[in-house]
Amino acid sequence: MERTYQFIRIARHGDHIGTIQLNRPEVLNALNLATMDELVDAFTTYDADPAIRCIVIYGNEKAFAAGADITEMAEADSVEMLLRDQFRKWDTIRRVKTPIVAAVSGYALGGGCELAMLCDMIVASETARFGQPEIKIGVMPGAGGTQRLTRAVGKALAMEMVLTGRMISAYEALRAGLVNKVVPVEVYLDEALALADEVASMPPIAARLAKESVLRAFDTTLEIGLEYERKNFYLLFSTEDAHEGMKAFLEKRQPKWQGQ
Ligand code: HXC
Repeated sequence: MERTYQFIRIARHGDHIGTIQLNRPEVLNALNLATMDELVDAFTTYDADPAIRCIVIYGNEKAFAAGADITEMAEADSVEMLLRDQFRKWDTIRRVKTPIVAAVSGYALGGGCELAMLCDMIVASETARFGQPEIKIGVMPGAGGTQRLTRAVGKALAMEMVLTGRMISAYEALRAGLVNKVVPVEVYLDEALALADEVASMPPIAARLAKESVLRAFDTTLEIGLEYERKNFYLLFSTEDAHEGMKAFLEKRQPKWQGQ
């Protein structure tokens, strides 16, 4: 039986997609610590399930997530924040091997924008707005905003967003390379699920190693990254799916993936 949570909802879409819905609509899905614990649990459970080949995370039309829960931080001092060590939860999500698609509508701000950027691809509704407004409340991004946003959109726009807190529209995010596509709000979740279906129709071990290799491009030299890619490429030749895929191509038929 599926676990039930207080602040998120999980469900299966078809045989191979696991979905997670952020479910604190009354506070625009602000990410309190308990929500982050539930997210870690849901992500790691999906990641350990060989049937799950892609994960889709979404909020609601008004908000993906409007950031970390400010009520939990307003009184905290540095030592308390340090001992709280909330970013360990974020690191766990970062290590999820299964590809993740974020379906974003409405606000993706602060930790909400950072959570979307932690995902591998973003499908945005036309109403999506991305921002790192932490500076307006006296702090700055803490869950990867200064790093992932800069890598995604470049220094000029990242600097402007982080220093002024300006939100960008879905189309500006598309032009800047932050999101994969922008679609009408009525279909943003369907489009994200369709993208996830496409990923899930690929051989899952190849998808995991390919995800890992692309992410490696962000934190290593080209030399080491190429080496890492090559090792993963060789490794795939010991999977049944690699031989099935090439054989199916030569026999002009559709491959049947075993996930092995
Ligand atoms: C706690 C929040 C919240 C948040 C909204 N709410 N964002 N509560 N933490 N981050 C609550 C509001 O207090 C309000 O509760 C309800 O949600 C609806 O929000 P409104 O402000 O009334 O809605 P609206 O006027 O439409 O404005 C939407 C908004 C605004 C522009 C998104 O809510 C806003 O600026 N929110 C804060 C965004 C932000 O600063 N995010 C960064 C947080 S710091 P009531 O009870 O009044 O109905 C951060 C650091 C990350 O993320 C570090 C890593 C973890």
